[in-house]
Amino acid sequence: MDFTSAAADSFERVPGLSPRQDPSLQRGSPTPTLTPTPISLTVLQNGGNWTSGLLHGIMFEEMDHSGDGGIHGQLLRNNGFQGWDAGLTAYKPLGDVVLAQDINNPLTESMTSTLSVTLAPRPGAGTTSTEFVGFGNTGYNGIPVSNSTSNVEYYTSFWMMGDYTGDILIRLVGSRSGNVYGATDLNVRGDWAQFRFFETRFNVSVRPEMQRGYFEDNGENEWQVLWRADEVRGDVLNFGLVQLFPPTYKDRPNGLRDDIAKEVEALKPAFLRLPGGNNIEGLDVANRWKWNETIGPLEHRPGRQGDWHYPNTEALGLDEYMQWCEDMDMEPVLTVWDGKSYGGIIPAGEMQPYLVDILNELEYLLGPATTPYGSLRAHNGRIPPYNIPFIEIGNEDDYSGGCDTYASRLTLIHNTIHTAYPDITLIANNIDPACLPTPPIPGLMYDYHYYRNPDDLAAMFDLWDNWGRDRGKVIVGEYGVRNFSDPDGVFWGFVQGSCAEAVHMIGLERNSDVVRMAAYAPLVQHFGFTQWSPTLIGFDSRPNSFTPSTSYFVQRMFSTNRGTYVHPVQSTAGFGPVYWVATSNSSSYHLKLANFGDERQTVIVRFPGAGRGTLEMLSGPRDASNTPYNVTVVPSLTEFLVSSDVYTVYMEGWDVAVLVVS
Ligand code: AHR
Repeated sequence: MDFTSAAADSFERVPGLSPRQDPSLQRGSPTPTLTPTPISLTVLQNGGNWTSGLLHGIMFEEMDHSGDGGIHGQLLRNNGFQGWDAGLTAYKPLGDVVLAQDINNPLTESMTSTLSVTLAPRPGAGTTSTEFVGFGNTGYNGIPVSNSTSNVEYYTSFWMMGDYTGDILIRLVGSRSGNVYGATDLNVRGDWAQFRFFETRFNVSVRPEMQRGYFEDNGENEWQVLWRADEVRGDVLNFGLVQLFPPTYKDRPNGLRDDIAKEVEALKPAFLRLPGGNNIEGLDVANRWKWNETIGPLEHRPGRQGDWHYPNTEALGLDEYMQWCEDMDMEPVLTVWDGKSYGGIIPAGEMQPYLVDILNELEYLLGPATTPYGSLRAHNGRIPPYNIPFIEIGNEDDYSGGCDTYASRLTLIHNTIHTAYPDITLIANNIDPACLPTPPIPGLMYDYHYYRNPDDLAAMFDLWDNWGRDRGKVIVGEYGVRNFSDPDGVFWGFVQGSCAEAVHMIGLERNSDVVRMAAYAPLVQHFGFTQWSPTLIGFDSRPNSFTPSTSYFVQRMFSTNRGTYVHPVQSTAGFGPVYWVATSNSSSYHLKLANFGDERQTVIVRFPGAGRGTLEMLSGPRDASNTPYNVTVVPSLTEFLVSSDVYTVYMEGWDVAVLVVS
């Protein structure tokens, strides 16, 4: 692609906006002075390329409790005793009871443990006490309660076995303050014949008089289940698969947390790459992500020890991922397991059962409801097939020992899927020629992941300019700034890092004829369980702890202003420290700018046409970060109307700007 950045005619200051109209004057910065070398950009109407409408998407995998305890709505931890060492994590006795993980009373064949709650023998007291006893679950370092004083409806459920008929008191309580944010009585009728399912909804709110205690709780809330000790015959009750949900996104049962999902939705992502990432690979072959163990009723999902060394409930399973894609209008980029795990790799000659498994998965997703797996999907509540335009074959075989055997496994899996589904675009999980088949497989896309420090990522601005157009299309399935020069890495996104990402994204947009899709990674983290940072979004159980990083805003600014055409730009300077790309769609022109340096810059832009516009600007000191309760680096948005076709943008060091003209 040939983008003109050659010196244009001599620079001339043409103030396109009067000071009052000039958006950059309205963002609280000191009155700007022209820099000695203003840059003049002229966006040309002719030339350029059609581009990928899919460029900016998201990548999700279960890590940092991004799913369980994160975007998935279920708030109780260890609710099904899954993974390798569940124990009594997150449970606490209430009153004179003894709790145990009970493997002798499984809920189902998949959910092999339940919680037994036994009244402690108390000399002289017996079981005649009228006190309330039971258990609590403290969630993922607490249970979030909205600080709204109006009612919010929570859903809760559990399975119970034992000789008890009567009321069970369910409460959401501050662990230290004792504040009760919500409570309900649920009438149950239980016996030892089988586990029975109970569910209810109850209102949760923070009454004004609780506000003080509420903030003292700081998210340390617990879900409690209580009954009168003297009303249980036999002293023991068993509970399985306990659940608590706040309002879910689009009211879906077993859905996403509404508050977090809405922030993801605001990114307007074009695609979702799922379900990993390392987390699909498995610590060993047996613990790989198995699609068929993530579908159907939750009590039939066994869960597994995920690659990030904690239990995955798989409540956010294959159907839920597809639902998420449909609800946010994203194309799924589905990764299938390719034979590589961290504990062993299946040789190509032994891949046959795994190829069949992939075809079964695809029949589940794409087959008519008359096929065996299509009918299973229908039985699970989804009659029409899903849409799967892209499938990635494994994850990062250029790392962790997969390279030597990837070409043969890739070829097998590619041929298997392509024969059955010729319209699906298949993606190799790396771009290293040493790990890929020769000659290349026609029509294959390639995924390349990179995490870099700010300077290195910005220096990769022209990476894709130099990718041979005959080498196939690309997805950058993971990228982002990490500071590898600091032994502790970057804890959280910061202005310079996000500016480097913007520089790189400008490079991606300029090359989106070849880079069809790209996703910052990872997406979300629970601050209490960080193993990888930074991510776009963080939160914990504290009220209003939701924290968008500076990178989140850069992603949002770029993704919500997507063009379908990249225009050549004539300029009076080369790239660096200021970088730009101009795009348009049927209604607007967009100019994206990043100033990757300390100095203030002036950019004068000529668009082919004039009119109503907006300037969105992310600005802040080089090292500034957003932290919980201190989200200070947020974009400003200014609307303006101009009568000429010339716009002047004043940029502080490290600013990222998107100018949109309709
Ligand atoms: O995004 C974090 C990890 O980085 C992913 O799981 C893996 O694909 C990459 O190495």
